[in-house]
Amino acid sequence: MQLVRVYGASVLDFHVYKHFIRPMLFTIDAERVHLVAEQALRIPMVWQVIGAQSKIGDGRLRIKLPGLSLPSPVGIAAGFDKNCINLPSLLELGFGFATGGTVTLSERPGNSKPRMMRVPERKALINSLGFPNHGLHRVSRRIKYMGDNRNRIFVSISGTIEDEIVHCYQELSPRVAGIEINISSPNTAGLRVFHDPARLRRLIESIRINISHNGLLLVKLPPWTTEKNARKLALALAETAVSAGADGVVVANTIPIEDSRLAAGKGGMSGAPLLENTVRMTAEISALLGKKAVVIACGGVSSAEDVWRLIASGATATQLYTALVYEGPGLAGAINRSLLKMMEEAGVDRIRDISGPPPIR
Ligand code: FNR
Repeated sequence: MQLVRVYGASVLDFHVYKHFIRPMLFTIDAERVHLVAEQALRIPMVWQVIGAQSKIGDGRLRIKLPGLSLPSPVGIAAGFDKNCINLPSLLELGFGFATGGTVTLSERPGNSKPRMMRVPERKALINSLGFPNHGLHRVSRRIKYMGDNRNRIFVSISGTIEDEIVHCYQELSPRVAGIEINISSPNTAGLRVFHDPARLRRLIESIRINISHNGLLLVKLPPWTTEKNARKLALALAETAVSAGADGVVVANTIPIEDSRLAAGKGGMSGAPLLENTVRMTAEISALLGKKAVVIACGGVSSAEDVWRLIASGATATQLYTALVYEGPGLAGAINRSLLKMMEEAGVDRIRDISGPPPIR
């Protein structure tokens, strides 16, 4: 067992990943590597041994959301495990919660390939995947057998008409800790209908009025950069979502970008270039919504310093995806460990007491 632990620790070690594993993986097409990673993640016990040092049991990392207590403020974002196959393994790696999906009512193939590529010099990804997924019923059956892990599983759902989303919510919400409604993927035609605040209000109200289950309900917002109207729209959507009955928002999805290497010609950018924008949006949206609303910050998170800055800006928790590709499977555990050290240095005992700039390390 000791040998397995040592081997596990070395696989997770940043240097081993950065200098040996990553260069090998990066010679292969990005979507193909993702499929390989999915296969590797299928055995949670392996990752349990490997994630043993993730500090997930340390009470100082615990966060509270309405009706929910999670062991770390770092979660995996939607899109990494679209079919909710590997969520238990991802939790073993040290994530406090794992978001599966985006799941739609019917199975979908997604957009044409090529539809995912790396931009290593910026530690970014560009994708136009759309929503390739097995559909609600297969995914829901899979989640049913995930046992206690379900207390830490969120699922992202989407659709282009209210009924599709309500149906997904009705089936999945009793099985998981939270539901994230994705109205913001830049890669799926038709989602923009819910950028009309009146339509978004009708959707959230019909979920809250007609479905009795009271799990966490979040809306994932589109980002804004410098464009004034996009900012105004995102703020209006955040305010509408919460006043209509959602518990909070996820800030935010990928940034729309044009790229001729993608078959679709356009897609969404994720990773390091998003971070400063995420900090700004988080500060503004949490100030707008007030303390009662949940704000999950997502976009460019790759270190404990980033998590600290986002919590200090008003986020309740954070999510990441792209940094996992660049930093490897040890990332969540490493962030948890560094966060604890920073909290010790700053004399902070609970995540929610984090404020001000991160201590210099
Ligand atoms: C995503 N993202 C995403 N978001 C979502 O709500 N539903 C989805 O299905 C997907 N799919 C998806 C695929 C790929 C390949 C990427 C890179 C991203 C967006 C993701 O959840 C997140 O909002 C952004 O990637 C920003 O976070 P990071 O990656 O910078 O940490």
